[in-house]
Amino acid sequence: MNNFTFHNPTRLIFGKGTIEQLATAIPAVHRIMVTFGGGSVKKNGVYDQVVRALKDRDFVEFWGIEPNPTIETLRKAIYLGKEKQVDFLLAVGGGSVIDGTKLISAGLNYSDDAWNLVKKGSYYNCTPLGTVLTLPATGSEMNNGAVISCKETQEKYPFHSNYPVFSILDPETTFTLPPFQVACGIADTFVHVMEQYMTTIGQSRLMDRWAEGILSTLIEIAPQIRESQKNYDLMADFMLSATMGLNGFISMGVSQDWATHMIGHELTALHGMTHGATLAIVFPGTLRTLRQQKKDKILQYGERIWGINYGSADERIDKTIEKTEQFFRSLGLQTRLSEVNIGNSTILEIEHRFNERGVAFGEKQNVDGKMARAILENCM
Ligand code: NZQ
Ligand code: ZN
Repeated sequence: MNNFTFHNPTRLIFGKGTIEQLATAIPAVHRIMVTFGGGSVKKNGVYDQVVRALKDRDFVEFWGIEPNPTIETLRKAIYLGKEKQVDFLLAVGGGSVIDGTKLISAGLNYSDDAWNLVKKGSYYNCTPLGTVLTLPATGSEMNNGAVISCKETQEKYPFHSNYPVFSILDPETTFTLPPFQVACGIADTFVHVMEQYMTTIGQSRLMDRWAEGILSTLIEIAPQIRESQKNYDLMADFMLSATMGLNGFISMGVSQDWATHMIGHELTALHGMTHGATLAIVFPGTLRTLRQQKKDKILQYGERIWGINYGSADERIDKTIEKTEQFFRSLGLQTRLSEVNIGNSTILEIEHRFNERGVAFGEKQNVDGKMARAILENCM
């Protein structure tokens, strides 16, 4: 196991009716800006609960942070926040609203264009931020990452800033999610775990088993959620799985991959695809391409998660990759680029972008432009 420091300062407030705790979670001295997406919170009662909890408080609202939040929108929010001199941000929505608000929290304390911060990759002089999460998927509610897009240049990059001070997770807020967003949220959570698990064996028994615990939970609840999305206990397990999947809990002292995510971000940047939907296509392709490098871990995963303990190593690996792809299909997601009409020109563009940036991802840092192309060709 590698050396590590674990420090996650986000206070997690979880359960039914917890939005009312906003009344005490934000100190009374603050001037608040509350940020929202496109309006789902007005239809499902979340907005009313937030406003009720903040009655008598000094706050302004910013609406319209879109899925895959763009710098073009966030510049407007930063402008408003500076004008109103806000000193606390409350993000209410899914990962996009939270991510966008993380950039706002940095941009409020930066005098130049906030896209510079995204290009720089991190900025920690931030206005404090709390969240009310309505979509389990990204883990953004309990990590310090964000992913910000630029519409003009069709780019999308990760950005690091501060953790939320608190996050309120009421599983009842997820009852109104469209089934496609639930499917993408489960796929995203599954692949977050994989990015931290599907590397090499023998680094940490404990991290492996915590990761496997989340994977098994998702596989168990996914078909049940498709039948009854308003089942509180199922959605509670889903919500907590998503948070624990990307808050540092399963990555202590172990190597990580993230190639699937970086390739997926390019598919979103170039084609506007939903994040989780890109991962359901790319991840099986990553396994097919790196099956030799990841051989021992694929065998462990196949045996422990899918009960595949028969046949030759090659047969077991084939079966395990097939099971993984089938799992994504069982969610109702597509798993091949050809199904979403993406072909060679996009593959070449992504290879070109990786080469131009001189990047290489994966636990062995060998997913460069050429390897990304091979992965995408294995997704056709
Ligand atoms: O905008 P509104 O009207 O609120 O509607 C949203 C949006 O259209 C809707 N929605 C959210 N909660 C709902 C709801 N509809 C009905 N009922 C509810 N309770 O769902 C749509 C998608 O929302 P979005 O926030 O975009 O989804 P998600 O949470 O999956 O976030 C995706 C973004 O997070 C980034 C992705 O790249 C993408 O930009 N990621 C962030 C990460 C992080 N911060 O650590 C890591 C991830 O790997 C990921 O890259
Ligand atoms: Zn993700």
